[in-house]
Amino acid sequence: MTDTPDQYGVAGHPVAHSWSPFIHGIFAKETGQSMVYRLYDFTPEEFRERVVEFFQGGGRGLNVTLPHKVAAVEVANELTPRAARAQAVNTLALQGDGRLLGDNTDGAGLVRDLCDNFNVVITRRRILIIGAGGATRGVIAPLMALEPLELIIANRTAEKARTLAGDFQDLGPVSGVGFAYVPGGTFDVIINATSASLSGEVPDIPVGVIGEDTVCYDMAYGKADTAFIQWAVQQGCSHALQGWGMLVEQAAESFRVWRGVRPPTGPVLAALKERAARV
Ligand code: ATR
Repeated sequence: MTDTPDQYGVAGHPVAHSWSPFIHGIFAKETGQSMVYRLYDFTPEEFRERVVEFFQGGGRGLNVTLPHKVAAVEVANELTPRAARAQAVNTLALQGDGRLLGDNTDGAGLVRDLCDNFNVVITRRRILIIGAGGATRGVIAPLMALEPLELIIANRTAEKARTLAGDFQDLGPVSGVGFAYVPGGTFDVIINATSASLSGEVPDIPVGVIGEDTVCYDMAYGKADTAFIQWAVQQGCSHALQGWGMLVEQAAESFRVWRGVRPPTGPVLAALKERAARV
């Protein structure tokens, strides 16, 4: 009798660009796990129904990417503390009792890439996050745990940034503004958490936020530099980093949640040679 591999995947819209099947394929090989990992393009309208179908059909775990991270909170039967804090889910895991656990590994992935892989300092630094969607929700608490001087959330729709900042007031100096009201002076670290890179656009933030010591990080990634990375380099930032490492680190953390073993991330990062990091 041959064992059927356990089914995993990533649900997003669009999702064809995702490298997650490649990454989890290497993780599975490295750790000797019998699993398959596929792409699932679910529209927002069908998201809940298709996720339920996936798990009823024997699926074991799903990553959730834009624009479904907030919607996935409602699909989960229970949340880990970090997903509850974020009110955003990027990992769904079927548990032994049939209940769906919602977790969020984005923040851990970002902090690990920024701080461990690139030695970026957050503590006592000015941090700007652009975007106020599900991707931002997942990373605020882990960043605030590192005690930045301040964390500004800037969003095209100002109200969403203010509401989001309000949800994390208890953690320290977090504020939310529209693009035109980003406080003056340069920032030490600027993180693009919008989906603008997917359509080749650059968020309309004031150019004065970037100085020669500013590290710019795009959560998006591509074979070529994203529009945000190109823009950051043009503005004279010190480092412009694409989100390959966050992608791999959050994936490793999801893999651990599903399979109980954390795969090494070095070999996958090495395999992703096109990782466009400008140092
Ligand atoms: P995710 O789960 O990846 O965060 P999301 O919840 O759909 O996806 O959020 C997308 C984010 O990208 C939002 O902050 C959105 O801004 P609005 O709230 O104003 O819609 C932002 N965004 C998308 N395209 C953008 C663009 N061209 N310029 C600036 N911000 C953009």
